[in-house]
Amino acid sequence: MPSVVLIGAQWGDEGKGKVTDFLAQKADIVVRYQGGNNAGHTVVVNDDEFKLHLIPSGILYPDKVCIIGNGVVIDPAVLIRELEYLAGRGINTDNLRISERAHIIMPYHKKLDEVIEESKGDAKIGTTKRGIGPAYMDKAGRVGIRFVDLLDRDEFMALLERNLKDKNDLLTKVYGAEGFEKDTIAEEYLGYAERLRKYAADTSIIIHDALKAGKNVLFEGAQGTLLDLDHGTYPYVTSSHPIAGAACIGAGLGPTEINKVVGVVKAYTTRVGAGPFPTELDDETGAHLRDRGHEFGTTTGRPRRCGWFDAVITRYAVRVSGLSGLAVTKLDVLTGMETLKICTGYRRGSQIIRDFPASLKVLAECEPVYEEMPGWKEDISTARKFTDLPPAAQNYLNRISELSGASISIIGVGTRRSQTIVKETLF
Ligand code: GDP
Ligand code: IMO
Ligand code: MG
Repeated sequence: MPSVVLIGAQWGDEGKGKVTDFLAQKADIVVRYQGGNNAGHTVVVNDDEFKLHLIPSGILYPDKVCIIGNGVVIDPAVLIRELEYLAGRGINTDNLRISERAHIIMPYHKKLDEVIEESKGDAKIGTTKRGIGPAYMDKAGRVGIRFVDLLDRDEFMALLERNLKDKNDLLTKVYGAEGFEKDTIAEEYLGYAERLRKYAADTSIIIHDALKAGKNVLFEGAQGTLLDLDHGTYPYVTSSHPIAGAACIGAGLGPTEINKVVGVVKAYTTRVGAGPFPTELDDETGAHLRDRGHEFGTTTGRPRRCGWFDAVITRYAVRVSGLSGLAVTKLDVLTGMETLKICTGYRRGSQIIRDFPASLKVLAECEPVYEEMPGWKEDISTARKFTDLPPAAQNYLNRISELSGASISIIGVGTRRSQTIVKETLF
């Protein structure tokens, strides 16, 4: 099977980085296709931990081509910092290619992200303030600046001038913030252009040719299904599409070229930022999951909200992304808990809801319906086969699979590459 799309099937931070790095062993190309440096993907290799924001999690192998696709929004300063961080840790990044069609995050996008959030008061989304939303707004508004434009001095200056007029008006007159100077931005960004020029490519061609030659291509999603602009808990979402369909748009290939789609889920649920979270535990159990799972944001360091596994949202993710399998991570975090709960539906008055509702008002009236299962006490961090797991852990996974409507392909029992159980081979 030459092409696999891997997505987050909850609210992000499911462990996509770890699973991507693991699967990348057998891939020739690893592609990021949406989001930006709002993402924080952690990969542990031996005793070294790497935190990646823009560069695909395949970069730790010297021979993999890594692509930042057209659907990603790129903050060039962050990308350069990430390249330097990797170089400083002995990682070669010569195999990175960046789509000429990817949009660039400008200083005014970051400022706007901040002031728009502040102006929302209690209704704020809790964004990462990385300028992601405003950059995608400009893309949809057809005034964005693409990587190919940044590489052409005249084109860039014309677009910058046109944009700055509007953005400065908006910042100063509507939000009472300071505006930006054209020359200061130009000097900074034209410098970035020279540093990044060598990575520019028409990346859709690279992917297309590789697939034609029978090579393995892995698509690494960012964020998660419930943060999807269309399918998530709108407006508490990100501004891109974390669901699998976005791989086609954000990398430049057709749906017929995708062979498998894997959804990554934690063995429980977490969320960073504001918005509905039906199985959230605002108690000792939630605090226990946060401590044991080290649930603090990779990008912003914020504590993650924690709760029980929600099969309603996984079933929803299976539907909207056509998931062929699940990668269940952090099973080891549940070790030692007497009883585990899985949410099978939501109770609203006398009604039981089994399909994730669109209305936040309805969602606020929903109470999770739980099924209880016995936990296990055995250390599972050295399990390497499904049958190494204690029967209670096997039953828990089987029930997740049954309720979600997808088979379990991969199981994570620790942060390291070796702490991965493969139940179904993907490549
Ligand atoms: P991503 O954004 O989906 O890539 O996930 P993050 O990297 O933001 O957060 C996942 C965290 O869980 C990281 O610190 C990983 O090292 C860690 N992790 C991933 N898989 C496992 C696992 O199976 N067990 C444990 N204990 N930690 C894991
Ligand atoms: P990875 O790829 C978890 C959340 C933010 C906020 C909302 C909108 O590591 O899973 P944005 O800055 O995107 O406009 O913020 O989305 N968010 C994430 N939560 N993991 C992520 O990425 C996230 N990227 C954005 O916390 O609630
Ligand atoms: Mg993350």
